[in-house]
Amino acid sequence: MEVVVSLRYLWADWIVVCDDGLNIIKDGFIIFNKTIVAVGKKQDTDRLYPDQKFEYMGINSVLIPGLINTHTHLEFGANTNTLAYGDFMKWLSSVLIHRDNLLQKADKSLIDRQLNDMLSSGTTSVGAVSSYGLDTVSLSNSPINSVCFVEVIGSSIDQVEENFANFQVKIQQIIELPNITPAVAVHSPYATHPLLIKKVLSFAREKNLAVQTHFMESIHEKKWLKNGLGGMKEFFAKFLGQTQPVSKAKKFLNSFDDIAHISYTHCCYASKKHKETIALQDGSIIHCAKSNRFLGSKTFDIDSFKDIAIGTDGLSSNDSLDMFDELKTALFLHPYIEINRLAFRLLYMATKGGAVSLHLNTGELVAGKTADIVSLTLIDKPTPENLALSVLLDKKHINQVFIQGKLCYS
Ligand code: BEZ
Ligand code: FE2
Repeated sequence: MEVVVSLRYLWADWIVVCDDGLNIIKDGFIIFNKTIVAVGKKQDTDRLYPDQKFEYMGINSVLIPGLINTHTHLEFGANTNTLAYGDFMKWLSSVLIHRDNLLQKADKSLIDRQLNDMLSSGTTSVGAVSSYGLDTVSLSNSPINSVCFVEVIGSSIDQVEENFANFQVKIQQIIELPNITPAVAVHSPYATHPLLIKKVLSFAREKNLAVQTHFMESIHEKKWLKNGLGGMKEFFAKFLGQTQPVSKAKKFLNSFDDIAHISYTHCCYASKKHKETIALQDGSIIHCAKSNRFLGSKTFDIDSFKDIAIGTDGLSSNDSLDMFDELKTALFLHPYIEINRLAFRLLYMATKGGAVSLHLNTGELVAGKTADIVSLTLIDKPTPENLALSVLLDKKHINQVFIQGKLCYS
């Protein structure tokens, strides 16, 4: 049953619109129910809505769009220090060794706790990569807008049919759940057989589902795909008895041609040509700055691509799912970009950029968009120049989180 949300009329000292023009409004108003009805300058409300009272959000109040964490793995939320950090191959080996132990701890309360932590830190939409289906019911019950990426993994040709059959069962379960958007995740070029990729992508095309994949996360992946060398050579020999990669990077990328909504996570070692191919596909790149740092990869160059979204990745490679933590850390990982400009860009990537990546009608405080809104109070008065930086640094003062116009956290 559709929940009716009554109209709210708010005004705040600042509105960070997060549209393509990176507009901000000083003394702005917003009217919304489930959808944003109007946004503008407070001085115009007497003329436009003469009989309407607007609720003031307080001194140094700021409204921003809800944050969009486009890539996480809730099923690995039990990790704190079990998995090895510092180098991607060390980490991947530790995942294979400790996977079952971590998954055993991924019960409903662990998944719910992660979703609640996300909500209370201003995340209103999530792209959750689901490998085992342990997170789907919690995602469906959470007020957070959930896109659930059912993941396929398996580089062995012998298991293609079985893996595809499992995928079909899992995605069907999600299609039947309310309040959750089904989507497809292809693990990566090194861990997913091309035939399996072909099968799931034809399913995604048929149903017009969004698709995500990890791509060029580590130097080892780059070397393995190029000539079967690097740290993955030893890994594949030891764990999977393989001597050659199952895909080349170019062919892998081209298998996503004609996917309507494709996002590539990481891309730290993607070449200029790879990024050109992704741009031609109207694809997004998901930047997971902290995860890359923890696993020993270089930082993705955010000046090298236009459509970028932000993901925390899972607690398997991060200490927090708080998008403000992620954005604050990213400020330090791009030291060549002027700090105030970087803060505005990161906020845009975490809102509008995420909405583009997950194909959601949100991420901007603009009429017609879903009313996913975070209300904050800054300690001191910001300037137009340092507004975004102030928002990132002052994140503790989240007053209210609205999702689809409903107050979900205060
Ligand atoms: C595989 O199943 O083929 C695989 C799993 C994890 C990492 C690499 C490959
Ligand atoms: Fe990931």
